[in-house]
Amino acid sequence: MLTAYDYPTALALDECELDLVLVGDSLGEVELGMDSTRGVTLAMMAHHVAAVDRGLSRTHLVADMTLGSDSTVQTAVLNARTLRDAGANSVKLEGAKIPQVEAIIAAGIPVMGHVGLLPQTAEVYRKQGTTEAEADQIVEDALALDEAGCYCIVIEAVVADVATRVTDAVTAPTIGIAAGATTDGQVLVSTDLVGQLPEPPPFVTPRANVRQIVIDSGRAFADEVRAAQ
Ligand code: KIV
Repeated sequence: MLTAYDYPTALALDECELDLVLVGDSLGEVELGMDSTRGVTLAMMAHHVAAVDRGLSRTHLVADMTLGSDSTVQTAVLNARTLRDAGANSVKLEGAKIPQVEAIIAAGIPVMGHVGLLPQTAEVYRKQGTTEAEADQIVEDALALDEAGCYCIVIEAVVADVATRVTDAVTAPTIGIAAGATTDGQVLVSTDLVGQLPEPPPFVTPRANVRQIVIDSGRAFADEVRAAQ
């Protein structure tokens, strides 16, 4: 799974034989220049989901529920429908919000779970599952999401052994990010993968340097236009 936030990226990722494309609320940080995911509203998410949907013709599109959009069962179902109507094939919720997950699934919208580091509520971004109690809680949350019917579970920034425990314990496939190599799948933020921002996180090895391509292209254009004056 890779993230996308716009039409051209979606068009390109649709050629990659990915299983899933995620319009994550990392949107706030990597696309809109915010300092966290917390400022992303459901309206912003729906706007970007619609753009990505226009670029995908074969890849499943999953959209993040934003902070507060899933705080009650009623708002969660309403907002999941808004994302579905914007083009999402499924939605992802952070944490073990079991009644909300069950209600959205009952409304006919598949749900992806998300355990470990939960950026919408985390005070600091750090590895999760470093104590026995924390590790047990992550496994317990994943099991509850699995039992509630999540079709897939993201495991973010979790000690590799704990990610293995989760993957072994649940029936749904797991997708890891900074959680070791034993999860069933992996997810990355596409802007990190292609080197679009100055400082990618340490667990990502960028496969390209899109930022430099943009700088070189912009400079070459400015130089050519000035030279022609
Ligand atoms: O918002 C996001 O991009 C995510 C991924 C890191 C899984 O939730």
